[in-house]
Order: sequence, then C-alpha cells, then structure tokens
Amino acid sequence: MDVGIDRLGFYTPKKYIDIVELAQARDVDPNKFTIGIGQSKQAVPDIYQDAVTMAAEAANRVLDDDNRNEIGLVIVGTESSVDESKATSAFLMDLLDLPEDVRAFEIKEACYGATAGLQMAYNFVAMNPDKKALVIASDIARYGIKTPGEVTQGAGAVAMIVSQDPHILKLDNKSVYMSRNVGDFWRPTFSKTAFARGKFSNEIYVEFFTTLWKKFQAKYNVTAADFDTMLFHIPYTKMGMKALRTLEGQIPDDKYAELVDHYQKSIEFSRNVGNLYTGSLYLGLISYLVNGDAKANDNLMLFSYGSGAVGEIYSAKIVAGFDKYIDSDFIKKELNNRKKISVADYESIFSKELENGDTTALSTVHDKFYLSEIKENERLYKLTN
Ligand code: HMG
Repeated sequence: MDVGIDRLGFYTPKKYIDIVELAQARDVDPNKFTIGIGQSKQAVPDIYQDAVTMAAEAANRVLDDDNRNEIGLVIVGTESSVDESKATSAFLMDLLDLPEDVRAFEIKEACYGATAGLQMAYNFVAMNPDKKALVIASDIARYGIKTPGEVTQGAGAVAMIVSQDPHILKLDNKSVYMSRNVGDFWRPTFSKTAFARGKFSNEIYVEFFTTLWKKFQAKYNVTAADFDTMLFHIPYTKMGMKALRTLEGQIPDDKYAELVDHYQKSIEFSRNVGNLYTGSLYLGLISYLVNGDAKANDNLMLFSYGSGAVGEIYSAKIVAGFDKYIDSDFIKKELNNRKKISVADYESIFSKELENGDTTALSTVHDKFYLSEIKENERLYKLTN
C-alpha cells in the first residue's frame, strides 16, 4: 500500500520586512544578508498570531468536508507552543471542527518535530488505511533584535494530510536517523527568544547531513544518481547549500549541477519568508513542487535537522498529477500580496504582547484565526466571519 502526503498547505503572516532595510538599520553590508545568508524578506507575525493561529490557517487550507471526518490523528510539531501543558492541537479541535475520535497531541524537538510527526503518521495510516492523519508544523523563529540570528527569523506553518494512495508524495519507508545531546541552539522556558552558538550549529548541521547521507547510501545501496532532488531543512537559504556543497567533486559534475539547480527552486519561498523552524523542510518541498520542474516518479531525498539535536534522511517519490493538489497560484498570490512594514514597525510589534484582559491591541485582524483575548491567563481564540 502506498502511504504519503495527500495534501499540502502553507500559511505565512501578511506582514514582512525587507532584508536590505534590516541590514541598513543594523549597519551591515546588505550583501552579507542577501548573499552571505541568502535572505530577501522576513515574515513578521502580528500581535494576535501565534503557533495556534498559524497552524489553524495552514490546516484550514488542506481540510475539506470529505477528508475532515476521516482524520484519526492530529500532530502539531512546534517549538513555539503557547502552553507548557495543553497541546497546540487541542486548541485546533474546535477551531477546525475536527472529529473527537482522534489522537491529538504536540511534538517538540526543535526543527525536527514535524518530521517525527510525519513518520508517526506514516505508521498510523499503514496500520489504519481507512484513516488519515493531519500533521502540522507551526513556528515563530525569534532570536531577538540586533542579535546575529535576527536575519534568520521568520514565521509560518505547513499542514500535511497523510493518507493511503496519496496525491502528492509517496513515502518510501526508507530512512536513517541519529540523535545526540548538542548545545547548538536552545530556548529555555523563561525566554521568548532562542539562543544559538551560530557557527557551531552550522557545523553540526553539516556533520549530521554528511553522517546520515553515508548511512543512507550504505543501508539502501544508493548514490546521488538515484535522486532527482535533495531537499534540506532551511534555517536560512545558504545553510542547505553548505550541506549540498559537501557533494561537490564527490559526484559527477552534471549531477551536482542538477541538484544545485533544484535546490535553488526549493529555497525560493524560504528566501522570502525566513525560518519556519519545523516547517522549513516542508516549505522547501512546496517551493520545489511549485517553482521547480518536478515530474511524476522523481525521487527525492529529504534531510530534516532539529537542533539539540536530531537528524533524519528519508526518501520519497512524486506522484503523477501532484500539481492538481497544490494551489500554486494561491500560494504565489498570498506571498506577493503581503504588506511591507518598516524596521521600526517590526521592532515595535516584536516587543508587544497581548496582556491579560487587554483587547485594545486587536483593532485590526487580517486573518481568519486569531487570538481574541487572554482571560485569567487562558488564551482564547476566534474565527473572523
Ligand atoms: P554571523 O556571524 O552574523 O555571520 O552569523 P558570518 O560572519 O558567519 O557571515 C555569514 C556569511 O556571510 C559568511 O558566509 C560570510 O562570508 C558572508 P559563509 O562563510 O557562511 O559562506 N558574508 C558576506 N557575503 C557577501 N557580502 C558581504 C559579506 N559579509 C559576510 N559583505 C549565523 C550567521 C547563520 C551563524 C547567524 O545568523 C545565526 O546564529 N543564526 C541562527 C542559527 C542558525 O540558523 N543555524 C543554522 C544551523 S542550525 C539549524 O538549522 C536549526 C535551527 O533551525 C533551529 C531548530 O532546529 O529549531 C536554527
């Protein structure tokens, strides 16, 4: 039985900052940010948005009257959750009108959470072929104003429906993974912003890729020639390239050039949004399917990396007719219709938070799902009509 991704939806906030303007405000050569880091725009979430609202927005794009009642598992991968006890998925039950006979929970392991969810969903559907699973990656990536990581911030969510006979991507059930206690990036419970040993995190990312790629080739007796495209976790667009570059000179030049070309297609959306943390690999997949030359039966290698750290490489195959199940025009239109805000406005939004009992900050809501109030420390959400 084939199991994999049947539907894919993406949401990013409607406001962004221009990375050149950020560089100017920080007195940095813009080329460092646009070429050295490889970013162009950065999503800025509004005061009424968080991991719950963005997860709801993305999931709302993949759920319909037919598939909603077939969902038997709801997993949210996030490292930006709003509650230490209640899972993000619990808030989604009524917001998305999900059936009650589901297992709904949250997974945290930095940017790896959604991949853990996807693999769990694969097993669930393999054992329960009449059911579907909803896996959502939702995060706000924040390092803080004037930090080295600031240029790599971002926000957004990706939702996937996993089912038998999927319409987009068939998972091969081939994967290798590794975990290690690493201090490359962390966010203690008291902090809204993450801490990173930036250069060390880059090194660990590349080391995990190199180790896993060797393991994958040995375990399944494959080489780069067996793959049409390699997709990477994209904390910033230069990062995946650093990993891909380890293959230069190790594989035929034309194959390397093809993989680089496909990688460029996979980073187009991330360049204009920033790091989605656990959604980034899957935004890369969407970007490749929308902007690349993806064809039926193309073989993909996907490298997932979550700081702390867990890494996994798995493979998948593109399904014929996948393009009918991704609304490319809608995604492009949404990205193009966002509003640019100034660096000063971004700084002001960054420091604001909805307080207990205060609703005055919610004068304008431009999205379907929003945080409507914090009452007695409980977050309450609503839908706009
Ligand atoms: P930095 O110290 O500001 O930058 O930190 P740099 O000095 O390393 O320069 C960056 C690049 O720009 C270099 O290129 C420079 O040469 C180049 P590279 O050597 O890397 O190829 N450069 C220029 N290029 C053109 N014109 C110029 C110019 N000047 C310099 N004028 C860093 C950069 C990414 C470390 C920082 O932004 C950071 O700490 N980011 C956050 C951590 C991060 O994203 N790590 C990635 C790996 S870990 C991961 O992916 C997991 C994560 O997503 C979290 C999770 O799992 O939840 C982060």
